[in-house]
Amino acid sequence: GGVQNGGKAEYNYTVDSARASLVRQEDTIIFGLIERARFPLNSPTYNQSYASIPQFRGTLLDFLVRDTEVIQAKAGRYTNLEENPFFPENLPPSVEPHYPFSQFLHPSAAMININNVIWKLYIDELLPIFVASGDDGNYAQTAATDLSLLQAISRRIHYGKFIAEAKFRESPKGYEPLIRAKDKEALMKLLTIESVEEMVVKRVKKKAMVLGQEVSLDRNVKGIKYKVDPSVVSFLYQKWLIPLTKNVEVEYLLSRLD
Ligand SMILES: *[C@@H]1O[C@H](CO)[C@@H](O)[C@H](O)[C@H]1NC(C)=O
Ligand SMILES: *[C@@H]1O[C@H](CO)[C@@H](O)[C@H](O)[C@H]1NC(C)=O
Repeated sequence: GGVQNGGKAEYNYTVDSARASLVRQEDTIIFGLIERARFPLNSPTYNQSYASIPQFRGTLLDFLVRDTEVIQAKAGRYTNLEENPFFPENLPPSVEPHYPFSQFLHPSAAMININNVIWKLYIDELLPIFVASGDDGNYAQTAATDLSLLQAISRRIHYGKFIAEAKFRESPKGYEPLIRAKDKEALMKLLTIESVEEMVVKRVKKKAMVLGQEVSLDRNVKGIKYKVDPSVVSFLYQKWLIPLTKNVEVEYLLSRLD
């Protein structure tokens, strides 16, 4: 989002508009978690020896994501730099007429893609803490919810590029010397605002309570139940989403002057 500029389709991201987008993306991520948590772990979805897809090596999730990205690339999804594919190798070009998306980011932004890190983290660390163990056979449905959630998480983390550019434009003099000195630590410090991070962590917990509450008209139902544990949502943000977003911000800034 941002401010539309004249007749050209140029969005002017600001730190405020970029933050507003992150707030909106929280809803998508929380709903994604709720949707995925409808199914148990369903481990065959992630097991290469289970999947027996002709002419394909990989898991059922690999298969679904790779082929979906091919279709979405043709439909033009990745012409918007807010989107980053998980399998960027050999993606076909868009067949759609080109929409003149904003050149807001420095061209080096296209080189930053940490989806391989996100993918591994998601399967190895994240899934086990918010889905029940077990197997109900709904592997294709499970993979479909994984895909939406992975895309939402990836978009959030890579949005760090837009945040970083907006911050840089607000105070280039503060950032330039640190970028030239390649001082990652000082850059991280400069772009970290702890009070904002604490607010995000609190807000997503509250949103998970509101959006994930089981609703019942039966007055005999006692106590409140949540579809996804709200403290898992705040933990996820605190431990992974916020730090990884900031890593993207630092990576982006380091090549900002190239
Ligand atoms: C973008 O927004 C900033 C801050 O509001 C403003 O100073 C700048 O002129 C805008 N740039 C364009 C291209 O509209
Ligand atoms: C993957 O599936 C194979 C065959 O079904 C099974 O033997 C193996 O234990 C599974 N691996 C994991 C990590 O679950």
